[in-house]
Amino acid sequence: MIRVSVPATTANLGVGYDVLGMALDLKARFTFEPSTQKLEIIGDGNDFANPENLIYRAFVTFANAIHQPVPNLRITVDSDVPSARGLGSSATCVVGGLAAANAWFHAGWDEAALLKLATQMEGHPDNAAPAIYGQVCATVLAGNEPIVRQYPVSQQLHFVTLIPPYAVSTEEARNILPATMSYADAAYQMGRCVLMTRALVDGDLSLLRQVAQDRMHEPYRATLIPDYQAAREETAAHDGILLISGSGSTMLAIVGDAAGAEQLQKAAAQRWPEWQVRIVTPSEQG
Ligand code: HSE
Repeated sequence: MIRVSVPATTANLGVGYDVLGMALDLKARFTFEPSTQKLEIIGDGNDFANPENLIYRAFVTFANAIHQPVPNLRITVDSDVPSARGLGSSATCVVGGLAAANAWFHAGWDEAALLKLATQMEGHPDNAAPAIYGQVCATVLAGNEPIVRQYPVSQQLHFVTLIPPYAVSTEEARNILPATMSYADAAYQMGRCVLMTRALVDGDLSLLRQVAQDRMHEPYRATLIPDYQAAREETAAHDGILLISGSGSTMLAIVGDAAGAEQLQKAAAQRWPEWQVRIVTPSEQG
């Protein structure tokens, strides 16, 4: 039996559209066993949109890549990662399926090779990279080859995920973005992205507050999240800053101390009782 555990991830990290992502301590766990049927999926009752298809597709993709026959499989899913909420649920399936197949066939692929295939399946690397490596990852593609570096996140920063009950489709959230941006906006964005990684490493909330002002995706995607403004105001009232996690609908609040995170968590849970509001920590491991 092969067991894999893959963390949720928050992609884009404010000004790092398609480039920066962070692994969180919410996990999806999968087990893979031989079966008498072609495919059995045992779920956990979580609202995990078609994980079986994506997990299985990833396993099959890996088997095809190494020219091995696909075995009959029983896959058991136990996930804390809500689907279509901007927390990398599809990356957990893709990375989980690839990593399990890597172990199943004793193929010995390293993280870089797994990330390359995961990125081809996902279309962007900023969930898959931290799902594989942990921590904050900055990733660019050189052709098809991902280049990755990890950044340790300062323990002075505290994170709260505000997860609304409604989903946002990543496809719709990508389609809503303009096709081009100006040189002025590109320079604005690049500078802020560089400084944001520094602020995360240093735990510098005041620098984060200055630079986490996105022009590439948040202004457009905020329109897909009806409670975005209210969540921003609630977070600001607790001296925090708010980012859209991935393509939404989850929003990630960053605050400067544990007490502030707890107060925000309580206030938001009271204001939006049907939301999942969780204090989360960066995951060191992928
Ligand atoms: N970088 C991707 C996007 C992440 O923003 O579309 C999707 O989770």
